[in-house]
Amino acid sequence: MSSFKRYTVTAALPYANGPLHIGHIAGAYLPADTYVRYLRLKGRDVVFICGSDEYGAAITIRAKKEGVTPRQIIDKYHAINKNAFARFGISFDIYHRTSEPIHTETSQAFFLRLHEKGLFEVQESEQYYDEQAQQFLADRYITGTCPKCGYSRAYGDQCERCGSSLSSLELINPISTLTGTTPVLRRTKHWYLPMQQFEPWLRSWIVEEKQYQWKPNVYGQCKSWIEQGLQPRAMTRDLDWGVPVPLPEAEGKVLYVWLDAPIGYISATKEWAKNVGKNWEDYWKKSDTKLVHFIGKDNIVFHCIIFPILLKAHGEFILPTDVPANEFLNLEGDKISTSRNWAVWLDEYMDDFQDRTDELRYVLTTISPETGDSEFTWRDFQAKVNNELVAVLGNFINRVWILSHKYFAGKLAGEGKIDFTEEYLQKAVEQARQHISDCLENYKFKNGLAALMDLVRVGNKYLTESEPWKKATDQPEEVANVINNCILLSAYSAIFMQPYLPKTAEKIFNMLNFSQQFHLWDQPPLLVGGHLLKEPQLLFGKIEDREIQYQIGKLERSKLMQQPPPPQKEEIAYEDFQKLDLRIATVVACQKVPQAKKLLQLTLDTGLDQRTVVSGIAEYYQPEELIGKQVLLVANLAPRHMRGILSQGMILTAQDRDGRFVLVSPQNTVVNGSQVS
Ligand code: MF3
Ligand code: ZN
Repeated sequence: MSSFKRYTVTAALPYANGPLHIGHIAGAYLPADTYVRYLRLKGRDVVFICGSDEYGAAITIRAKKEGVTPRQIIDKYHAINKNAFARFGISFDIYHRTSEPIHTETSQAFFLRLHEKGLFEVQESEQYYDEQAQQFLADRYITGTCPKCGYSRAYGDQCERCGSSLSSLELINPISTLTGTTPVLRRTKHWYLPMQQFEPWLRSWIVEEKQYQWKPNVYGQCKSWIEQGLQPRAMTRDLDWGVPVPLPEAEGKVLYVWLDAPIGYISATKEWAKNVGKNWEDYWKKSDTKLVHFIGKDNIVFHCIIFPILLKAHGEFILPTDVPANEFLNLEGDKISTSRNWAVWLDEYMDDFQDRTDELRYVLTTISPETGDSEFTWRDFQAKVNNELVAVLGNFINRVWILSHKYFAGKLAGEGKIDFTEEYLQKAVEQARQHISDCLENYKFKNGLAALMDLVRVGNKYLTESEPWKKATDQPEEVANVINNCILLSAYSAIFMQPYLPKTAEKIFNMLNFSQQFHLWDQPPLLVGGHLLKEPQLLFGKIEDREIQYQIGKLERSKLMQQPPPPQKEEIAYEDFQKLDLRIATVVACQKVPQAKKLLQLTLDTGLDQRTVVSGIAEYYQPEELIGKQVLLVANLAPRHMRGILSQGMILTAQDRDGRFVLVSPQNTVVNGSQVS
């Protein structure tokens, strides 16, 4: 039994500056949701907190890029992300915003308390200042040459080529991205957290106490940080988009991310508690509350070292019991990247795969980057859905329901409560319950899901080996017995499935004709003889090759867009250019080439003649829409046969940003046969 009375579960607040992709989901939100759903089924008191992180340079940079205000950016992406999470079924108790007044109050009060305790060291330092824009520059606003690898477009905080983390002061030839000017150094004052003072405490709290409790990837990162020696860190910034530092001498300064974003967990809890009539302090200040942060690996130091120091220094708060951070999810052999559009966007997934959220939950859990980076590929997605969800889980439930309806019109045989008549099935269920519980309590989501599928496999094997279809006439009681066992096993599977595949579990409960949409974890399903099942419903559909090809095609186009234009070809003489006979011609007829997906056959009026040209643009143009259009033709290219058609010349195209071919044509209509020179 758990010694905690309450659970506060947080998932990293995503920046409201862009949409969510599967890397975010696999990294933090899906494991958090699975965990919380389990806790609720155990009847525990739990609050699940998230929201938008709406301050900082990440937001202002995006706003500048789009030519709008930061407020417009956060309003837009807060709505988009909140919706996407809801549509995907992440069951936050609140999805709050750090731009709310309650958050300003909470983080300012937190800062003041630490300030009054004399925690901060005020230090002056030199920071880059843009004289034209009249502001200090966040590291992200400065680019320059990387001192480590020489890359000329490194950012002030990081070089994206060699991956080194930098300070803007190290950049060679710094340039302000606001104005393109060279920034100057100016003195400025900031409030620093003397992290080194907490080193002895961190050594005992983390290095000693957490060694066997925290995941190795999390523990390892913390330990190496602590051992490298801790330095003071600025808790304030010169920025105009953030929570103002609540001191008269700090005008124009805001609280930096450390004293802003994670305090967002607390302010969100306050808002939630107010709405549901609870006391927020129970969830943050009582030692019988278990605080758990779900995050990605880029936030480990933040949540395991910096935020706990702040909580501890404040004095009234509990510390995180666990920080089950995940590593990164890669995509088709490459790092997920928003700027390169190398991602599977959550919204797009849900548009392309309607009502298939459990399929994505399933696959992302099986490849969850729990202890190291892992990879998503569309082929693997297809294989797992088709070979596991369809062929194992869907197939078992479907076979059982069909048999029950075929032989007993969906009615459970016998009288009174139905129990397993095979002891080993009962055992398999008890073991699965225990094992999946252990996995979920210990953040081993992947193993827990595998155990669930193994239980279903036990059912499948039992059904296949019992061969009830052969016994229908001679041994009707045996048939009834097998089906009852299978129905009972299906009900248990649905119970254990709830944290992982909530919609599928609900469908099975519905097919079982249960009145409730959920079922407590430890409560056996009550099935009695005479109970009537509903008709079978399809749980999962096969993912077709063409659906996968479409997704892979999208990614291929992203890759294409990233490619720099090919280098210039070797120089030619003017005479060589003159050899080309380029003409404008009008399309007078056009049709598809039979059995050739990519080819169109065009008839052109070239001013000289009417001729046939074959072109590989059938995927991008309908034949009808080209008739009457003018095109650019290489008229004197040697004729050649394509699919048995003689193509007399070639029409010219370029590729658009999606890698699609577009025809090149004159700006105004010209006489057919006009030469291009
Ligand atoms: N928005 C930041 C990020 O995505 C910080 C998230 S964690 C929090 O990295 F604690 F700050 F919320
Ligand atoms: Zn570099």
